[in-house]
Amino acid sequence: MEKTFYVTTPIYYVNAEPHIGHAYTTIIADFLTRWYRQDGYDAYLLTGTDEHGEKIYQAAQAEGQTPQALVDKISQRFVDAWKVLDINNDDFIRTTQPRHIKVVQEVLQRAYDTGDIYHAEYEGLYSVGQERFITEKELVDGKLPEDRDPPEIRREANYFFRMEKYRPWLTEYIEANPDFIQPERYRNEVLGILRESIGDLSISRPRARVPWGIPIPWDTEHVTYVWFDALLNYASALGYPDNEKYQRYWPHVWHMIGKDILKTHAVFWPTMLKAAGMPLYQRLNVGGYLLGDDGRKMSKSLGNVVNPFALAEKYGPDAVRYFLLRELPYGLDGAIGERGLVARYNAELANDLGNLVSRARALLGRHLNNILPDPEQSVEDQLVIDVGVALSGQVRSLIQGLKFNTALEEVFQFVRQLNRYFNDQQPWSLAKDPALKGRLGTVLYNVVEGLRIVSVLLEPAIPQKAKQIRVDLGLDDYKLAETTTWGITPVGTKLPVDASILFPKIDMEKNDNAALQGKNNKPNKTTHKKPQVAVEVAQDGEISIDDFNKIELRVAEVIAVEKVPKADKLLKLNLRLGAEERVVVSGIAAWYKPEEIVGKKVVVVTNLKPAKLRGIVSEGMILAAEDDAGNLSLVEADIKMASGAKVR
Ligand code: MSP
Repeated sequence: MEKTFYVTTPIYYVNAEPHIGHAYTTIIADFLTRWYRQDGYDAYLLTGTDEHGEKIYQAAQAEGQTPQALVDKISQRFVDAWKVLDINNDDFIRTTQPRHIKVVQEVLQRAYDTGDIYHAEYEGLYSVGQERFITEKELVDGKLPEDRDPPEIRREANYFFRMEKYRPWLTEYIEANPDFIQPERYRNEVLGILRESIGDLSISRPRARVPWGIPIPWDTEHVTYVWFDALLNYASALGYPDNEKYQRYWPHVWHMIGKDILKTHAVFWPTMLKAAGMPLYQRLNVGGYLLGDDGRKMSKSLGNVVNPFALAEKYGPDAVRYFLLRELPYGLDGAIGERGLVARYNAELANDLGNLVSRARALLGRHLNNILPDPEQSVEDQLVIDVGVALSGQVRSLIQGLKFNTALEEVFQFVRQLNRYFNDQQPWSLAKDPALKGRLGTVLYNVVEGLRIVSVLLEPAIPQKAKQIRVDLGLDDYKLAETTTWGITPVGTKLPVDASILFPKIDMEKNDNAALQGKNNKPNKTTHKKPQVAVEVAQDGEISIDDFNKIELRVAEVIAVEKVPKADKLLKLNLRLGAEERVVVSGIAAWYKPEEIVGKKVVVVTNLKPAKLRGIVSEGMILAAEDDAGNLSLVEADIKMASGAKVR
């Protein structure tokens, strides 16, 4: 397959400031583009702004400005916002640009000429919020759930696009192409919509009422309906139909959207493309909704709005990018908040990753003059090497399957494995014996080599910090293809003497929580103070959620168990946690026979300091319940739960 990739974000309405919902989709699109680019693809990212329509016209009137002045101002805010989050888009399309207007008018004219557009009078329910005629069926308590106001009854003479005629064809196409709409649940939703009539689409508005839009080429008393205009941005930005960019990228396009604009992208857009004689997009990927950390829709009055730009200024863009990609399974709704970001940042970026870089750097500086020696690998190194070189393959298939959170988790499993390797090999002890200097060099070389792979795999998520890791370790930049071989880091690599702390720890209690509030909000005193109050009133023995979050619990599959010789109480368990395996020694021999436990899904504390028990290094602790009568029962997860899954 040709290595070309084109990804788009929705173009954002300019009647509101950039917010977390916009940021989420854009970060994912940017992540994908960077991933494919380092995987050797010619990858192209498009974003932009949707600038026509009634809503924008009304917003401009309310502010007493011309629509053009308003769209110029807010569109620039989006351009600036993406800089704050380190979004590396190749183009920024605005629907008021001549290059776009020209394409919309051409496509309209063609559909009109072939008879796919006709003139008719229509009366129906119209949602101003969504800018479309709606059906009774869509109403909940007299209005659309996403709208503030109930719909209006409107009677209009408009132009209509013969959308219904394409329904059987579209149904068949979606059925024959299971990947066309992802994740699966949204594909099913669309097939559900297509089971009933979709009607024809009103694609014009009378100019007298909506003066802000693209004129219908054969009837200048009408302007183009905003969705018929907006969707075409994905092609107009590439210079459809003649530009080389269009020829090159269009066949590979992935659209990233939020679930609220599924119907327009999965029903309107493919039928429009078909009518225009254009090839369909390759894939529509649908994301869920971000909710406040109380699990409710974000709203200023609830004080649960997360402002990604304020968070990026406070913690850096990479922390925000990492958090949003890592926290939620793509496609599902999920709750997010500043506390969650800080917990992940501290546990994963600062503890697991940042500490390892600085520990390796410290020993290399102290004992090896900051120079990486020639390693001499032994059997003890093999596990780390095997997992390290196989990692990019696993991460790649997870990303292709839109499992961004598990892909990052997979990388961090390896980071934790590197930490265990470091702890087991005890390079600080090796350094004490001059005869073991060679071994010390090998261990440190391997840690650096592992971190090189990690930095490449994390680069699409945390571009600045990934680069910083390599700079701190004296490394060049590498492509993904260079992560499947161990030993690419040149022997003799010199590390810089000075480096700043990669991920300084964040103390949430000392934080002012400012970023929880929308930037334009007046800080809401009550919500602003809440976290501190909760801590102040904590009774003796109570712990904060941050304390609890320090304990990492995971589901593990028991793959082998044996008795520990000369220890009646102890069993040695081999556990599988996703791609990783570890050994845990547990005092449960009085209650369980080894063969009774194999195959169970148990719960393990994974970030416990390793301990040596009867000569065996135990890497964690399994959880069990014990009653007053001395009965003991292992805490088990459902057998279908994936090993490695987090327990919260
Ligand atoms: N202009 C149209 C898109 C036209 S594309 C040809 C539009 N713009 S929008 O600015 O209202 O929204 C853009 C995207 O932001 C939507 O995909 C929407 O799902 C997403 N989000 C808005 N709030 C959101 C959350 N709270 N969470 C996640 N995404 C949400 O629609």
